[in-house]
Amino acid sequence: MIALNDLARHHAPLAAELEAAMARVHARGWYILGPEVAAFEQEFATYVGAAECVAVANGTDALELALRALAIGPGDAVATVANAGMYSTTAIRAAGATPTYVEIDASTLQMDPAALAAALTPRTRALIVTHLYGRFAHIDLLGQIARERGVALIEDCAQAHGARIAGGMAGSHGRLGCFSFYPTKNLGALGDAGAIVTGDRDLASRLRALRTYGWGTKYHCTMEGGMNSRMDELQAAVLRAKLPHLDDWNRRRREVAARYAAAIRHPAITLSPPVADESNVAHLYVVRTKERHSLRAHLAEAGVATDVHYPVPDHRQPGAGETPPQGLVHTERACAEVLSLPCYPELTDPEIDAVATACNRWPPATPS
Ligand SMILES: Cc1ncc(COP(=O)(O)O)c(C=O)c1O
Repeated sequence: MIALNDLARHHAPLAAELEAAMARVHARGWYILGPEVAAFEQEFATYVGAAECVAVANGTDALELALRALAIGPGDAVATVANAGMYSTTAIRAAGATPTYVEIDASTLQMDPAALAAALTPRTRALIVTHLYGRFAHIDLLGQIARERGVALIEDCAQAHGARIAGGMAGSHGRLGCFSFYPTKNLGALGDAGAIVTGDRDLASRLRALRTYGWGTKYHCTMEGGMNSRMDELQAAVLRAKLPHLDDWNRRRREVAARYAAAIRHPAITLSPPVADESNVAHLYVVRTKERHSLRAHLAEAGVATDVHYPVPDHRQPGAGETPPQGLVHTERACAEVLSLPCYPELTDPEIDAVATACNRWPPATPS
């Protein structure tokens, strides 16, 4: 079976580095928010080109804390997309605010700037832009609209660690950039972890208080709305060992995507528009077809694992209310058609070719 992702293969060459990092933590006997976390915060801020990094427990908390740091809550609306896996919706609701779903563009499946401009209302206080599948969203246009309308831009970079455009890295374009280090991410821990980067020192100090119950100093709250969302030392030590390898892994992921793009030729399979530059870190390689179930079954039969990111739009999940928002045609279609093929740095060329050949040999029920 060709796996969708293979973390044992990913970590095998790093075994000695990871064991040394974990042994360092064990010997020191300090397990939460200690020197490894402080060092990782500095190293990751430098990597992203941000003044500050605040390490937290996971990527969803990072989004929620970003909203709380901006004092966004009940009565406020936050614009986001509905095809990015419920994470932003979960965080927006946890902060007490309401999501407003913005249509995506049919080609890149990222937030459509024209649809954003139309969706903003006087209640909208923030915008969460997800760089979906590891590709930069239309950040320049989205950022311009956010600035003109006085809306805070939060980047969700959980799938885009290390993606760059001329204006800076993913995470450095908004007021706040949120990251997940879930194990399957381009930069993954060996458990849950997340971080928020920002150029705003005041926001960073609010975030530091909010991640520890709202404490300004130990046991003394200076803020309401605090949470317990801390990164542990073991995860920070692991992330420090892995960060220097991230650009090489991303380069290989782009090669995997380019090889698929050159090899898959099928009239009923639509490929993502190719992006060869560093604005794409190929977190996922996603194709589209009207007959997803059939293609999935055929690939499984051929020994190729696949997954769907994501099958249900947020506005059709529980809690969204009785009346789904109108005008999310491309969002709905994407959720019905997307299929993720195996994509990770250690995938070999023969494996990529085998996946592509299996795709090309798929006999759809209704040939187009
Ligand atoms: C786009 C996106 N945002 C947010 C998250 C949430 O991260 P976590 O699982 O660490 O809470 C994820 C991943 O799981 C994600 O893919």
